[in-house]
Amino acid sequence: MTASTPSAASTTSAPTQADTAGTPAPGAVPASRGARVSLVGISHRYPLRHDVDHGWVPALIRLASPAARARYEAESAKPDQLPVLDGIDLNIAPGEFVSLVGQSGCGKSTILRLLAGLESATEGSVVVDGAVVTGTAPERALAFQDATLLPWRTVRENVALGPQARGRLEPRRVEAALQVVGLRDFADAYPTTLSGGMAQRAALARALVNRPRLFLLDEPFGKLDALTRLTLQDEIASLWASQGFTAVLVTHDVEEALRLSNRVVVLSERPAHVVEDIRVPEGLGSDEAAPEFQRLRRHVLSLLGR
Ligand SMILES: Nc1ncnc2c1ncn2[C@@H]1O[C@H](COP(=O)(O)OP(=O)(O)OP(=O)(O)O)[C@@H](O)[C@H]1O
Ligand SMILES: [Mg+2]
Repeated sequence: MTASTPSAASTTSAPTQADTAGTPAPGAVPASRGARVSLVGISHRYPLRHDVDHGWVPALIRLASPAARARYEAESAKPDQLPVLDGIDLNIAPGEFVSLVGQSGCGKSTILRLLAGLESATEGSVVVDGAVVTGTAPERALAFQDATLLPWRTVRENVALGPQARGRLEPRRVEAALQVVGLRDFADAYPTTLSGGMAQRAALARALVNRPRLFLLDEPFGKLDALTRLTLQDEIASLWASQGFTAVLVTHDVEEALRLSNRVVVLSERPAHVVEDIRVPEGLGSDEAAPEFQRLRRHVLSLLGR
């Protein structure tokens, strides 16, 4: 697995407490301070808004206009909920790296939002380290496809957002997070002057400053060019190995999932259930040319209907 390759060693030497996790054997789950995660019977539905006006004026118009009446009836007949997740059970051990793959719109980001505590499941529970998740927490960090840095703040000030929001400045932690992602020299730069890869690194630092025990990554490399993407994949793998967090990555890139993960969880179309939970053999992720890597890649793609 790339995670064990010290290719980004220079970015992993920040003096964080997490560094004590050490480097694992190739492909193995590192000794971990990561969170234990369980999704127990998770089903989720989003309420759907209907474009129906129950006022007396539209009611009169409907009496006079068959077209308006037909529109009203069609709108009223639409379901009022969108089923997104259907009975998801998933256990993730501390320090595991799990990827979620599935078709667009199947509910992958919804799973991350539930894990982050940004949403509550309609049914079932999200349990992290034995406690049911009822809201957000700094040790459960979410990184998105877009870096979403605040343009009027420098890189350092963006990274410091989390500690500041908790009323603590923690400058050493901020510097350590900047060093971990290799942005010490750009700490005073503004986001508009950064490349896409650097902006994404800054966003990773903003999450890492909170020392996440569960790192949720929602297609974090999706908008980057192929080369930067590969570099950042290596860096995430190195961070995972050195910091020992549990990682859940949503990606459309099957090779990326196989390269980085201990497990690849394939989801069905919406409403999503787990189609297959595939364990990636130790060390396989770093050997893309291996017949087994290619076989697994084809298998995942076929499960995705490709
Ligand atoms: N807040 C919301 N209210 C209503 N529907 C929503 C909401 N958020 C997401 N949805 C719908 O739920 C479904 C799943 O969304 P989600 O973002 O989890 O999909 P996804 O698998 O991450 O898709 P993609 O791969 O395109 O990012 C989609 O049909 C989406 O339109
Ligand atoms: Mg998504």
